[in-house]
Amino acid sequence: MSQTDRRRDHLIETYRKKAKHYDITSWLYPVPGYPHRAQRLRAIQALGLRAGDSVIDIACGTGLNFPLIEEVIGPGGRIIGVDLTDAMLAQAQDRIEASGWSNISLVQADAAEFDFPAQVDAILSTYALTQVPGCAEVIAHGAAALSGGGRWVVLDLKVPGRTPGWLAQLGTAIVRPFASIDEWIMRRPWAAIRAAMQEELADLSWTELFFGTAFLASGSRGPGTSGVRPRGAAISDRGLSKRPLA
Ligand SMILES: C[S@@+](CC[C@H](N)C(=O)[O-])C[C@H]1O[C@@H](n2cnc3c(N)ncnc32)[C@H](O)[C@@H]1O
Repeated sequence: MSQTDRRRDHLIETYRKKAKHYDITSWLYPVPGYPHRAQRLRAIQALGLRAGDSVIDIACGTGLNFPLIEEVIGPGGRIIGVDLTDAMLAQAQDRIEASGWSNISLVQADAAEFDFPAQVDAILSTYALTQVPGCAEVIAHGAAALSGGGRWVVLDLKVPGRTPGWLAQLGTAIVRPFASIDEWIMRRPWAAIRAAMQEELADLSWTELFFGTAFLASGSRGPGTSGVRPRGAAISDRGLSKRPLA
């Protein structure tokens, strides 16, 4: 088994253990009281969604973004939630059934291997993409799938830029029991995500949140790119609904 496969299996095992109580325990991470909800709301706003839009939620987990997206896109829109971990998707499926949504499909896949359907209006990833070693490729594949003017938004944690050494060590010690933080710090995935979004998208916006411990990055596919269709067209015209989804 390759190192990549081992890492992936370890990640799945980790999230299988977390899945059932993720919605509660995620409030404790990275520290209790962390302003996730306010950050999530900013990320959804940055998508610039409209009624009827199609949205892909990469590494959707238990679907905590779904109600916020549904509120804007309504029943005429569509969400595809993609995640690697079966148990997280099972929780997402429970949420979908409990809420009576009929416009959400779930796909179990590695984000790095996900075959993005063409002509989507928006792609979102929250608190997840920095965990994907091929995050820059995921940005590129998603950008290529966006319709003209479609938006890519990433919200995730990062290490603050000008952290005093003692504070960085303290933060690392707090988070270490919950994640493979040393590899994550060395890899600096937020920098790779920023560079990829700069490369692939027009008008990159990069905002550091909560003392630089998180970032909100967004950009759109330029209107002059190929495969452009007018935003707001019926979803059945977009090819999305014709794709077989798990
Ligand atoms: C911290 S949770 C975030 C879930 C959700 N996005 C949220 O905001 O609550 C990270 C999620 O990323 C998923 N994940 C990690 N690596 C992945 C990959 N390579 N492809 C797809 N999903 C992945 C995990 O299974 C987990 O559900």
